Amino acid sequence: MILGAGCYQKPLIQVAIDIGLEVHVCSIKGNYPGIQIAPFYHDIDISNSSDVLELARNLEVDGIITTATDVGLESMGRVIEELGIPGTSLSGHIACSNKKIMKDLFRKNMIPSAEYTEIFDASDAIQFFENQPGPCVIKPTDSSGSRGVTKIDNAPMIEDALKAAKNFSKSGSIMIEEWLEGEEFGAQVIVFSEEICLIIPHSDLTTPPPNKIPIGHGCPHPKESEIFPEVSQIITKAIQALELSNSVCNIDLIMTKEGPKIIEMTCRMGGTRLPEVCGDYWGINMYEIALNIALGIKPLLPKEPLGMINAAHNLHVRESGLINKVGEMNEGYKWVIESDIEQPVFCNEQGFAEIGYVQVKGINPTDVLLDAEKAAKIFCKTTTMQR
Ligand SMILES: Nc1ncnc2c1ncn2[C@@H]1O[C@H](COP(=O)(O)OP(=O)(O)O)[C@@H](O)[C@H]1O
Ligand SMILES: [Mg+2]
Repeated sequence: MILGAGCYQKPLIQVAIDIGLEVHVCSIKGNYPGIQIAPFYHDIDISNSSDVLELARNLEVDGIITTATDVGLESMGRVIEELGIPGTSLSGHIACSNKKIMKDLFRKNMIPSAEYTEIFDASDAIQFFENQPGPCVIKPTDSSGSRGVTKIDNAPMIEDALKAAKNFSKSGSIMIEEWLEGEEFGAQVIVFSEEICLIIPHSDLTTPPPNKIPIGHGCPHPKESEIFPEVSQIITKAIQALELSNSVCNIDLIMTKEGPKIIEMTCRMGGTRLPEVCGDYWGINMYEIALNIALGIKPLLPKEPLGMINAAHNLHVRESGLINKVGEMNEGYKWVIESDIEQPVFCNEQGFAEIGYVQVKGINPTDVLLDAEKAAKIFCKTTTMQR
């Protein structure tokens, strides 16, 4: 059973079909590309854990999986626990979808992370902010995709940030954290049973603050050998603290002056083309590995990376409407346009719509990311909309 049918779940659905599984896709109705290719489609809200559980029971599913979204995590946890299929327990899934629970576990287990507190009103936020030497960040405790996450540089910014966070919090719960200065990066971690089989650090590109959204990734991380010992130690502790098992996990980190600290983590693969980028560096198919793990099959992994240094960057348009002409795409790079260009595209709150990605292979981890970013910028500038 695959939860979600968006552009990030579509490749997972495709690989599941290709390896010969009986694939049941759950998603609300809509123009989602995964629905079109789903051998069995179920019109169901993946955040409704009772509905997902009932369906999973009726279908007697052997495994359940999602990628790139936290919307169905609680449902996954319930199905895994009640059907006794491989995967992280319900409490682990809940910790991954609630930053307060996650950060309480980080604190208890002394895992480096940003200072934080839950807040109930503006005065709580002001009090925390004034006790911090630098900026802070206000965010919903239970949302994802950087929605409602705002960096706070001064007290007057707090009110709007609280509103934005409330808007996206399912439970209404909000938290404030110290803002960690430093380079943002991440890791995909393959966990079979409770064993950490592989940690793949990667670089991140995001939009600038106050609303940072991931837009590109490269693998390997340019300083992988230097950062690996400390990063892997922290990640191992964090996976154990949240009791994650049988999943490919996505970890977000910041390299601060005091060393790496975790922003957040979750028991599913990352979005923004991370399975492609990390898989292509290691010469493995991350989707296939994640599917096998969800079925309790131990993945066969190479001892060292067998693929190519590479990076991917999302392709954006900055206006809603119909695309007139897609932008320049230089040869030699891989270009994937996922939007049906006969259909109108709609910009998000940040003012852009994602229509695909460009992937660049090369010999230098820093250069491939810069080249992908540059190619995406040119593409965006030269894309025109119908008037
Ligand atoms: N404490 C922090 N310090 C620095 N940057 C942060 C912090 N918290 C969040 N961010 C930035 O905001 C982004 C989104 O925040 P995150 O907590 O990961 O929320 P979401 O679950 O919506 O992705 C992060 O990827 C990072 O760029
Ligand atoms: Mg995040």
